[in-house]
Amino acid sequence: MRTFKVLVTGGAGYIGSVAVRILLDAGYSVVVFDNLYQGHVEAVDPRAAFVQGDLSRLEDIRALFAAHPDIQAIMHFASYTLVGESMHQPLKYLRDNVANAANLLEIAVQHNVQRFILSSTANLFDLPADRASEPIDEHFPVRPGSPYGESKYAIERMLTWMHRIYGLRYACLRYFNACGALDDLGEDHDPETHLIPLVLQVALGKRPHILIFGDDYPTRDGTCVRDYIHVADLAQAHLLALEGLERFEVRHYNLGNETGYTVKEVIEVARRVTGHPIPAVIGPRRPGDPATLVASSAAIRRDLGWQPRYRDLETIIRTAWEWHRTHPDGYRSRALSSRSSPSNPGRDVCLPQ
Ligand code: UFG
Repeated sequence: MRTFKVLVTGGAGYIGSVAVRILLDAGYSVVVFDNLYQGHVEAVDPRAAFVQGDLSRLEDIRALFAAHPDIQAIMHFASYTLVGESMHQPLKYLRDNVANAANLLEIAVQHNVQRFILSSTANLFDLPADRASEPIDEHFPVRPGSPYGESKYAIERMLTWMHRIYGLRYACLRYFNACGALDDLGEDHDPETHLIPLVLQVALGKRPHILIFGDDYPTRDGTCVRDYIHVADLAQAHLLALEGLERFEVRHYNLGNETGYTVKEVIEVARRVTGHPIPAVIGPRRPGDPATLVASSAAIRRDLGWQPRYRDLETIIRTAWEWHRTHPDGYRSRALSSRSSPSNPGRDVCLPQ
């Protein structure tokens, strides 16, 4: 029997690389497409095919499909993802994220791809004050909190038409705050902007303190509340969503642990995990940050039987700490150590013509 081939865009990135691992372990054949601006070739599982290319160039995508005409499904992770940056460079998001997805879809439908999983975001929601404490389910009105969220919503809308016109089945997975690590796959962004890795960099002595973006929000201690979800649980949801598209044509799922933690609470847990005092300094709010974002993930639990394995923030931060402690320079640490290891043959990188 021919194996089912999945294209993972952004498969060298933080969440995409873990999804690749889970797909391969489940017996899928995987091709990773990544421009390596944020991703790391060291993060690509050697069992996957790897094509370096850019979604802004149709010729790169055509070359990818020419080399892999048997792609049957796509998980689309590749994207600009920073809420704060999108408030300063809105068109990088509104133009590039949307145009890159359109390029991918154009070639995908020509090749009769039948299933598509979109990395979407909790930033689709920016709750009015009178509903701020409610868990956000899929029926909440969409009101993007930033150009980043707006760009993801535009792609969600694009998919409704791809389904209606071409019959493309799709699922939009709206992540809340991805975090945590596997032993050998973790978060390595440059620059790093996310709370948990920054806090852990303080514990590693790489930063003097963590700057808290505002303590005047209407929350229990004045700092923003977020729902932190382990990257392995997110990846597992992708696998279930892909298989769920056998039964369902279109699905939208909000993915979180259904528990909110303030920024100060996250720092406190990280102090316990690392044993470091992690000094914190209060700064101004960061534009684009909603006060509270907590998911209701009842729909994906009910439809697909999704069960997050990492429910407890301390355990999640422990996995992230293990990664940062053992990879203080991210994948560069691994590249240096693996270069000296004769058992690691490295991997071939295939560049588009
Ligand atoms: N924060 C700080 N100081 C920092 C960094 C972050 O106080 O140095 C705060 C932020 O203000 C926010 C919280 O920590 O309240 C989490 O911020 P992150 O930057 O880690 O994550 P975001 O909530 O901004 O964004 C993440 C993803 C988005 C996704 C969003 C959904 O990066 O792609 O979660 O909640 F849309």
